Amino acid sequence: MKEHIEATATYLKENGMDAPEIGIILGTGLGSQFVEAMKVEKTISYTDVPNFPVATVEFHSGKLVYGEVHGKKVIAMQGRFHYYEGYSMQEVTFPVRVLKQLGVQQLLISNAAGNLNMEWTKGELMLIDDHINLQPDNPLRGKNLDEFGPRFPDMSAPYDKVLNKKLQNIAATQGITLREGVYVSVTGPNLETRAEYRFLKTIGADAVGMSTVPEVIVAAHMGLPCCAISVLTDDCDPDNLQPANIEEIIAIAGTAEVALTTLYVELIKAL
Ligand code: HPA
Repeated sequence: MKEHIEATATYLKENGMDAPEIGIILGTGLGSQFVEAMKVEKTISYTDVPNFPVATVEFHSGKLVYGEVHGKKVIAMQGRFHYYEGYSMQEVTFPVRVLKQLGVQQLLISNAAGNLNMEWTKGELMLIDDHINLQPDNPLRGKNLDEFGPRFPDMSAPYDKVLNKKLQNIAATQGITLREGVYVSVTGPNLETRAEYRFLKTIGADAVGMSTVPEVIVAAHMGLPCCAISVLTDDCDPDNLQPANIEEIIAIAGTAEVALTTLYVELIKAL
């Protein structure tokens, strides 16, 4: 795997994606606005990146976008790989290893998630303060890559406190409601039953989604500071559950994109 990571990073360097300072992962229904805020220098489709997982139909549009935001070099993943698509956890997190190898010093993550906290409402943003991993596999399972990080990584603060504080300050200044809470990751691709939503609330989660946690585990392994924001796309009230509407979930992610883009563009400016 080490050779693959190095070879992919070398390819990207040689193809105009040299020395990015900040990495960003743009989740489902998110991203086009952020990319519009970038001064784009180079775009490479995932299908052209050596060793990247073979893109599924869902992610034929996935691409790496490299450019500048407020004078900082940024590399964005427009679209991510999910475990439910059939990739291994190592494949899902391979791009994060590559971003670190390229030199990013911070990783900014976004996702769409279901809202489990009935004091909040869909359309709002949640800063992830902590997570619960309910996915059945772990990207660090297997032989440890000692050059990248320790066998037993610490997870006392996987979401960087300094980045989170800055995001809270930016949200306050910009008048953006930014909730803060616990994200639980599930495999999907089905949404949850009422009993499952009740269970997830009970164990302490505020939002549920099918991504992010593997990426954060790998970032923690490599000592890469990261932060993550969920767009709450649907209300998961076990006592009044409406049938899931994927079109609506994507549409709500789209409406929240403006605020999410503002938070991340201002954060990059402040770094
Ligand atoms: N559950 C899991 N993942 C999700 C949801 C949900 O309710 N909404 C958006 N992603």
